[in-house]
Amino acid sequence: MLSQSWAAALLLLSFTAPAACQTPPSLIDALVANNASQFADFIQADPEVLQLFLSSAGTVYAPVDKPSTQARSLAERALSPAEAAAAKSQGSKVQTKLNEDSQTQPGAVRQTLNKSPLVDGRNQSVVVDTRPANSTTQTKRWVGRSLAPRDGDCDEPNPNSLLRITSGLGKIANVIKADIAFQGGVIHITDKYFTPPQGLSSSARATGQTAFANLAAAGNVTNTLETTHSITVFLPSNNAIAAAANATAGVSSAELVTGHVVAGRVAYLPDLADGDTLTTQTGEKLTVTVRPGGLYYVNGARITQANIVLENGVAHVIDKVITPQTTAPPPPVTGGSGALSQTLGLGVAVGVAVAALLVLV
Ligand SMILES: *[C@@H]1O[C@H](CO)[C@@H](O)[C@H](O)[C@H]1NC(C)=O
Ligand SMILES: *[C@@H]1O[C@H](CO)[C@@H](O)[C@H](O)[C@H]1NC(C)=O
Ligand SMILES: *[C@@H]1O[C@H](CO)[C@@H](O)[C@H](O)[C@H]1NC(C)=O
Ligand SMILES: *[C@@H]1O[C@H](CO)[C@@H](O)[C@H](O)[C@H]1NC(C)=O
Ligand SMILES: *[C@@H]1O[C@H](CO)[C@@H](O)[C@H](O)[C@H]1NC(C)=O
Repeated sequence: MLSQSWAAALLLLSFTAPAACQTPPSLIDALVANNASQFADFIQADPEVLQLFLSSAGTVYAPVDKPSTQARSLAERALSPAEAAAAKSQGSKVQTKLNEDSQTQPGAVRQTLNKSPLVDGRNQSVVVDTRPANSTTQTKRWVGRSLAPRDGDCDEPNPNSLLRITSGLGKIANVIKADIAFQGGVIHITDKYFTPPQGLSSSARATGQTAFANLAAAGNVTNTLETTHSITVFLPSNNAIAAAANATAGVSSAELVTGHVVAGRVAYLPDLADGDTLTTQTGEKLTVTVRPGGLYYVNGARITQANIVLENGVAHVIDKVITPQTTAPPPPVTGGSGALSQTLGLGVAVGVAVAALLVLV
């Protein structure tokens, strides 16, 4: 009899204990409890935004409170359209825990709750980048594979997870605390807001690549490029454009620019695979090569900064101007002499390209 009541009590316990753990707090309570109360005020200031988060957000990227922000005044007025868009950009429909987002290379595309009129078929996105820190120039930190697998809803939040996420103007937000459960999904606390995407010209200038922006202006193609839906731009760096000055002497600015633009496809890095081909607006075929260590090439040009999210697509900075002749991908890097042969291979390819163009011009 006694043992039966003990068993009953244990049975009761085993049902009640997980039940308490399986009822996470509301979104607002979870935000306030995790130093994101300014963001909670922000989304509560606009009934439509709040409703969207409560009904659709599986993942919330909540910026951590900043001492200087005037959260009080925000809570007392409606959000401007730009503020509402910024708020919606911090949410994503799918529920993604840190472990899922940190395992796949080169990362993952996360659609936000912010609709973009200039990107067809998808909402505006942010891009999780998990490549080694030395794969890109603008890298702060990287999550390795050392995180323990996570299971169930009762896990403690992951502290100091260090996932980096790219948004507009190539700006990076870092996840500083992850997998905080709320009723509709998980919250990742970030160190800042995502940056609203802008047009190609200001995005190129913001990343320091003014030469390409100037070429687009000189060729009178800036406006057309910024209003074309769904583009991918391979954006040669200032150095690349300077180094190709002789090779491109006979090419018009407009042609040079549109030779680096793929229309009709937004190819964030995670959407590109080794051997993929893309066609530029000038009809040039580009072949994607992926090398170990998260190195990406289009023809002979290496992507040095990836996933600069644009209002109407995405841009990747490359270290060489793409001409019809820069088709040789770098050879695979094997062992100690790899870097040397890679450099030589590229040098020869560029040399051939320059020679060929000089003959044509
Ligand atoms: C909130 O911030 C304070 C001060 O920085 C810190 O001591 C505390 O641990 C934080 N709380 C959470 C839940 O992160
Ligand atoms: C796109 O955003 C809208 C709200 O602006 C949202 O209702 C919809 O679920 C989002 N779609 C995806 C796939 O995230
Ligand atoms: C990046 O760093 C790793 C580890 O330090 C190293 O093995 C790799 O060769 C580096 N890659 C490049 C492109 O520098
Ligand atoms: C620039 O391009 C637009 C079309 O996008 C055209 O209407 C305009 O005449 C062009 N201006 C010059 C100076 O070529
Ligand atoms: C371009 O050609 C000129 C004259 O031949 C030469 O002096 C210059 O170094 C070349 N520039 C580049 C970047 O190759």
